[in-house]
Amino acid sequence: MDFSIKAFDTKNTLGAAKSGCIAVAVFENKKLSEAAKALDLNGAISAAVKSGDISGKPGSTLLLRGVAGMAASRVLLVGVGADEAISEKSFGSAVTAMLKAFTSLGAQDAIIAFPFENVKGRDLNWAVRSIVVAANESEFRSDAQKSKKDPAITGVRKLALAVPAATPQLKAVLAQSIAIANGMNLTKELGNLSPNVCTPTYLANTARKLAEDYGFDVEVLDRKQLEALKMGSFLSVTRGSDEPPKFIVLKHMGGKPKDAPTVLVGKGITFDTGGISLKPGPGMDEMKYDMCGAGSVLGTFRAIGEMNIKLNVIGIVAACENMPSGRATKPGDIVTAMNGTTIEILNTDAEGRLVLADALTYAERFKPAAVVDIATLTGACIVALGHHNSGLFTRHDDIHNALADELMDAGAQTGDTAWRLPIGENYNEQLKSNFADLANIGSPGGASCTAAAFLENFTRNYTWAHLDIAGTAWKSGAAKGATGRPVPLLTTFLLNRV
Ligand code: BES
Ligand code: MN
Ligand code: ZN
Repeated sequence: MDFSIKAFDTKNTLGAAKSGCIAVAVFENKKLSEAAKALDLNGAISAAVKSGDISGKPGSTLLLRGVAGMAASRVLLVGVGADEAISEKSFGSAVTAMLKAFTSLGAQDAIIAFPFENVKGRDLNWAVRSIVVAANESEFRSDAQKSKKDPAITGVRKLALAVPAATPQLKAVLAQSIAIANGMNLTKELGNLSPNVCTPTYLANTARKLAEDYGFDVEVLDRKQLEALKMGSFLSVTRGSDEPPKFIVLKHMGGKPKDAPTVLVGKGITFDTGGISLKPGPGMDEMKYDMCGAGSVLGTFRAIGEMNIKLNVIGIVAACENMPSGRATKPGDIVTAMNGTTIEILNTDAEGRLVLADALTYAERFKPAAVVDIATLTGACIVALGHHNSGLFTRHDDIHNALADELMDAGAQTGDTAWRLPIGENYNEQLKSNFADLANIGSPGGASCTAAAFLENFTRNYTWAHLDIAGTAWKSGAAKGATGRPVPLLTTFLLNRV
């Protein structure tokens, strides 16, 4: 999809705009939006609305052709609901319906002339971002591994958003939105790829390609180097696998050389069988998505590379498989993490925290301004928050946590929301082991919180936040597929830090 913003004075210039289609909003109370009024020179639009051919309910649409007095060949009426202060949900339904209607048009290009500034509690920037992301989503196909590709996308390929003034600021927002959408596509592609293709090596090659395309520094550490670093916790997870582990470091030094970097750390389990603590069979295929934290780091790097943002950002991806085998780690095994902490592995399926522990210790060397780890860490996070919000954890002694606020704000700005959950001394006590410094699972209750509390032990030398994306990174069922979350949240968080 090709996006642009164009300045239109709805009263005077919209009617003269040459386009395959202009989409305008109409209301349930039969009122016309300003843009609809501007195109209603011979009363065709008001007549269609009065006739009841379109209800005006969010998501209702009606296509009119050859409306007199209008240069565009079609006008698409789109219902946005009863209220002239449009709710976010109604706006979303309207955009989805509009995009759907666009796919079956003979037209190649369209102008969207919606009352963007009337969305309750939102602004023009938000509307631009949400349309770009939705339009990108509507044309995403997960056919990378199908021998017969899904049918080619027909209909509108060029979208112009009609705005009062195409300011440099709004143009920047458009460019950011496109970068976010492209970043999400990479995250989705990686997530959806089968686990025999999307291996740790594949993730490393993807990082190398990104480095080449956008001028990042990249370093990929292999098993020998990880052994030399004494990453006993990470290495315990990869023991049962024949696929070589990869520890990937990407650097975008867009800020001043001396500025402390913001570090993103992604869980990159390219397949999680559970190891010797084997997972049940049904739905196990979905554990190919256990690298979505890593995928979101790579997707975010694509976005920041495309924008060349003026900030120092380091991405770390700890990638390996979690497999059972004769060499695999056993429940009861005790390993020593890179920072010297000994860990009793009571459940080999709690592997994400083991790979992250060493990645988080490794992050110390960058003297970071902040570290955010992103992980499909616990099924319990889905129980707690469903699929709407990622779980957000920060240090417990800080209810008013600035980093948490930044991440919450970035989520709210983009609709890629997170919600805070607690850690603290009580959860740490649940992680006591009789034989080692820490156990890798907590006593029953609060499994997302004990997992986050485990990670906290490895982050005490810097400002840190953890995002549990088990519920938000992919969808199950008929629409199975990666969502590209939390790339919008992460990219916006970084943009806000510039
Ligand atoms: N990758 C899983 C978490 C997960 C499960 C994400 C289901 C999405 C859907 C993680 O490695 C895991 O297995 N966690 C265990 C932890 C338990 C053993 C304490 C879990 O959540 O069951
Ligand atoms: Mn697991
Ligand atoms: Zn896992």
